[in-house]
Amino acid sequence: MLKKEMFYEGKAKRVYVTDEPGKYLVEFKNDATAFDGKKKGTIDNKGMLNNKISVLFFKLLEEKGIKTHFIEAVSDTEMLVRSLEIILVEVVVRNIAAGSLAKRIGMEEGTTLPAPVVEYYYKSDALGDPLINNSHIAVLGLATPEQMEVMKETALKVNGVLKDFLTGKNIDLVDFKLEFGRHGNEILLGDEISPDTCRFWDSQTSEKLDKDRFRRDLGNVEGAYREVFKRIQA
Ligand code: TMP
Ligand code: ASP
Repeated sequence: MLKKEMFYEGKAKRVYVTDEPGKYLVEFKNDATAFDGKKKGTIDNKGMLNNKISVLFFKLLEEKGIKTHFIEAVSDTEMLVRSLEIILVEVVVRNIAAGSLAKRIGMEEGTTLPAPVVEYYYKSDALGDPLINNSHIAVLGLATPEQMEVMKETALKVNGVLKDFLTGKNIDLVDFKLEFGRHGNEILLGDEISPDTCRFWDSQTSEKLDKDRFRRDLGNVEGAYREVFKRIQA
């Protein structure tokens, strides 16, 4: 496999074309942003840690029958994936109230939800990723109702698999964001699954082990990402 030209650069990753049709190389960066890119920084070794953490989670999900874009790890900071036409709907699943949900519905951060909450956000930097519903998605033509059903069911299945796995590692899965894309006529789970895109809390102390340490200036961001990697590979 040959890494060819870069065709997309996001806030945390670069995507390269390869000499193999239908396969992209994803490179994870140390760059970190928050609040629609208004806060910028770097986290040492984040690229490596997020790549390795995502590889581990994608392998786990594939073992449980969930279809993802993941093919194989290529280097410390790179993975080979199936090319996707990204669907512009971010799917968030929540088990414990935190972040924007705590604010929006006036629930104290840390309250366990009686059932998982699934939310959709329009992936649009210009609009600041607004919360949207199935009617908005239909009007905008972002996905069909059938595709949304697949994405929702897959997201809930991912939640069950990750939550159970992480409980065994003494980590509470508070919430996370997924992205999906079309590959031929299949819908595959794409993007990454890492402390950038999930909230992970230590089960005993509720210490934050994710990007909230960067967003809220809590310090030891790299240490938290390392701790997640250490626990999940054990
Ligand atoms: P929120 O509480 O800020 O809406 O975030 C919910 C989850 O989604 C949290 O685990 C972090 C993740 N997330 C992203 O991956 N990208 C984003 O741009 C935002 C706002 C949240
Ligand atoms: N990554 C997003 C941004 O740069 C937001 C976040 O994760 O908080 O705006």
